Amino acid sequence: MKFAFIVHPLSEESKALWQMDDGGQLLSHWENGNLLEICDFVQSRMAEGVAFGGRAKNSPIVLDHFSGLKTTTGCVTEGRVYEIPCSPKQILEDPTTAIEQTQTAVKMAADWGAGIVGLGSLTSVVGGHGQYIAENSPIPVTTGNSLTVYAALKNLQHACNELAIDLSNETVTVIGIPGSIATAIARMLRGRVGKMLLVARRPSQRATRIASELDSELLFDIPTALAKSRLILSATSSGNCIAQEMIQTGSVVIDVGVPADVTRSTRRRSNVLVVSGGLVDVPKKFLGKSMLLSFHFGLVPGCLAETINLALEDRAESFSLGRDLSVERIDEIGSIATLHGFSFSQLSSYGRPVPDSLWASMNKVVGRRESEKFEDAHASSNLPQSRKGDLASNGNGQVAGQATNGHLSNGHAENEKENADHQKLKKGQQQQEKQRSNRHARTLFQRYINPVLVNLAEQGGLNKTFVRGQDSVVTDAEENHYLDFVSGFGSVNLGHNHPKIVQAVREALDEGVPGFSPAAINPHAATLAERLVSIAPAGLEMVFFCNSGTESVEAALKLARVATGRSGIVYCHGSYHGKSLGALSVTGNRNYQRPFQPLVPDCHPIPYGNLEVLERTLASRNMAAFIVEPIQGEGGMILPPAGYLAEAERLCRQAGTLLIADEVQTGMGRTGTMFASEQAAIEPDIMTVAKSLSGGLVPIGAMLARRDLWMKAYGTVERFALHTSTFGGGSLACVAGLATIETLVEERMAENSAKRGFQILEGLNEIRGELPDYFQDIRGQGLMIGVELSPLAESVITHLKRTDSTDMLQYMMPGMDTMIASFPAVFQMQMLLEHYHIYTQVTRSNPLVLRVQPPLTIDSSKAAHFLSSFSRTCRLGQKVENLFEEVITRSISGQHVSSPVAESRKETRQTSGPPITASGVEIDEQYSQ
Ligand SMILES: Cc1ncc(COP(=O)(O)O)c(C=O)c1O
Repeated sequence: MKFAFIVHPLSEESKALWQMDDGGQLLSHWENGNLLEICDFVQSRMAEGVAFGGRAKNSPIVLDHFSGLKTTTGCVTEGRVYEIPCSPKQILEDPTTAIEQTQTAVKMAADWGAGIVGLGSLTSVVGGHGQYIAENSPIPVTTGNSLTVYAALKNLQHACNELAIDLSNETVTVIGIPGSIATAIARMLRGRVGKMLLVARRPSQRATRIASELDSELLFDIPTALAKSRLILSATSSGNCIAQEMIQTGSVVIDVGVPADVTRSTRRRSNVLVVSGGLVDVPKKFLGKSMLLSFHFGLVPGCLAETINLALEDRAESFSLGRDLSVERIDEIGSIATLHGFSFSQLSSYGRPVPDSLWASMNKVVGRRESEKFEDAHASSNLPQSRKGDLASNGNGQVAGQATNGHLSNGHAENEKENADHQKLKKGQQQQEKQRSNRHARTLFQRYINPVLVNLAEQGGLNKTFVRGQDSVVTDAEENHYLDFVSGFGSVNLGHNHPKIVQAVREALDEGVPGFSPAAINPHAATLAERLVSIAPAGLEMVFFCNSGTESVEAALKLARVATGRSGIVYCHGSYHGKSLGALSVTGNRNYQRPFQPLVPDCHPIPYGNLEVLERTLASRNMAAFIVEPIQGEGGMILPPAGYLAEAERLCRQAGTLLIADEVQTGMGRTGTMFASEQAAIEPDIMTVAKSLSGGLVPIGAMLARRDLWMKAYGTVERFALHTSTFGGGSLACVAGLATIETLVEERMAENSAKRGFQILEGLNEIRGELPDYFQDIRGQGLMIGVELSPLAESVITHLKRTDSTDMLQYMMPGMDTMIASFPAVFQMQMLLEHYHIYTQVTRSNPLVLRVQPPLTIDSSKAAHFLSSFSRTCRLGQKVENLFEEVITRSISGQHVSSPVAESRKETRQTSGPPITASGVEIDEQYSQ
């Protein structure tokens, strides 16, 4: 069914929004306008354009056309926006003309074939809130106000969730009584908030009746109401009634007024959240289907969204009319819109999505207020709880309450079916809540931890929030299970939450062991040190405990300098030893080092695996240490040439240089023996360990050194405390470390690592045999395996870069080259994750290398599952790349070819017969607990 929507220009002022400076840049007015004003401005511009084109300006015009709107549910519609030539002032002063103009527009819409017409802004206020228009209209009419109300409540709910405000403890002010939107909002809020204040412009019988119906205080003065509450919903038709200065710090204002109720001011407050209320986020597929829908982040007013939804549903009925909106209908239209993919969680403030900085500052203000409230209350009984019920989606509270009460309060189920339905409903609600909190975690991570990481991962479809882990399986909030082939970059060698480690830590907690007692003797640290020394390469007898790999490297570098009296440190290109200033100075990645220069002096990079250069560098005899990874992990899972480490050891000894083996990633059974040094037949002077020494539970790191070196460095009264760490050697970490070593040994995990590593390497080489061009190299030892894929063809890379003809992307995204370069490995990551539920990562320093690093506990069936899945994703990857090349070649020669992305989808679908679809299922069935 087609629809139409009627609007009017909102204000003269909004024209200023389009003003440009001398350089052609838009003036900052955009910052100060809200969405409706901006829309209005564009509308009036277009209207002018039409008028200049010769059409009369004193009759309605077609302002916009929405074509081909189709939802994921398969419903379609198209629509038109008509504008009547009356400003808000004219409409209020001369409603008769406005009604006539609206009727003309309705008639035009009906003639065009619209099955329903929505009334925007003030056209829905005059004429008995649409009633008069509807009575005289050839087609049904809706004010769209039901969805506006629903959206405004959802907006409030969302803001409260974000700010951890418990609505049931709050006083909420509703401004605009007895208007239809404000009144409906107040009715929906009833019983769901601590207290409600209603504000009317002037006394009236209707306002008094509403206040007594809702048992709420009625005020006629906005400043007084604003002083009494910090949650405000405002929906007047006059606009501009709330000055920014009146609003209390920490307030949230959902401004549904048209024009806006909160006055615009150039001074934007960071301690008040003003949201343009009642806006709805259209489904992504709609964007670009009209000027209005593409505009402003896909947000449209609720009244327009309601009209679109009724058309999508083929419901030619006057849905929202008159002053008294039905609470049930508000819920109904909200559910319909949700079903069609409309959403309400994108909040807009002054015409832009609420910026993270505003959320952060509001969170601080609100948090401070809550703790003050808590202190005032002097008791935990008043402790505010966040995120109680849902204001809108489960209806008005009455409806949801009835459904629940029917079962719970009666104490007995009427029949089994009802009971089952109830359980299903409950499960669905729990699931929804989990998903919601998952999305919230993503928002917070983006806001407070790393927005770039979140955005990048999202673009690659790799944003995952894992909420549980057991052995080699991690589970997300939607209860999807994934095989973990990353293992926390080698920190979960024993699998997630190994029961023996969990038990050891639990017992220590139950015993009440003191967590940290740095200057006292910690028996757990002592026992772990002894055990660690017993499994370490010969000669390593002294242990320093810390909390990370980086810290263990710091300790090693410092010890080497003090013990030798030399300052030089030799390290390898492509190495990774951590990112503190010292560890970074010996990390062979210029991208990591460059921004932090100058680094620690006298550190010398040499090529990994090159003995000649090592010998030359050591010849100065000023080198305290050579720090080296037995296998480079972050650098791309690179194995040195056979015999390299043993010869390096000999050269170091010869030059009086200490050999530091960084076994942070290679240690604890990862490469098939407890430490990789064993297989290289070396006895380093110093060794660093971390990651899996914690058993994947409590952070820990350790530096092991020869006794004589330690004594030289720290063995005097003045020096014994030169290098310390408060948390190093904490009880829980040591208890976990001890249980980890015992478990690794008892369960022969290093041996399993060797066996499964062999199986996987063999399988990978078979795949390579079938697709020789797709791989550059496959290498590894034990379960530290890297698959290096071939880069994209030069023609494809050049084309991808050229697609961005303005070079803007290069400018905006300095990492673009890396992103293009890493395409083959990222594609594999995506496919493995999406279709086979296998979680992998690429190595940071070489983005063409896919890590294959599962926990050491995996059995042969999981290894085989990985191999069969990877074989399919590689074949697909090869095909996609071939298609890319073909597309480019043909496009250069002007021939058409279907898009590689579409082809890849098709391919995935084709291969998604039992084995592939089963993979997700397989994982679910086989590996879920
Ligand atoms: C070999 C090596 N050394 C040191 C580190 C730094 O360890 P952390 O991240 O625990 O500080 C890493 C981390 O990946 C590593 O692989």
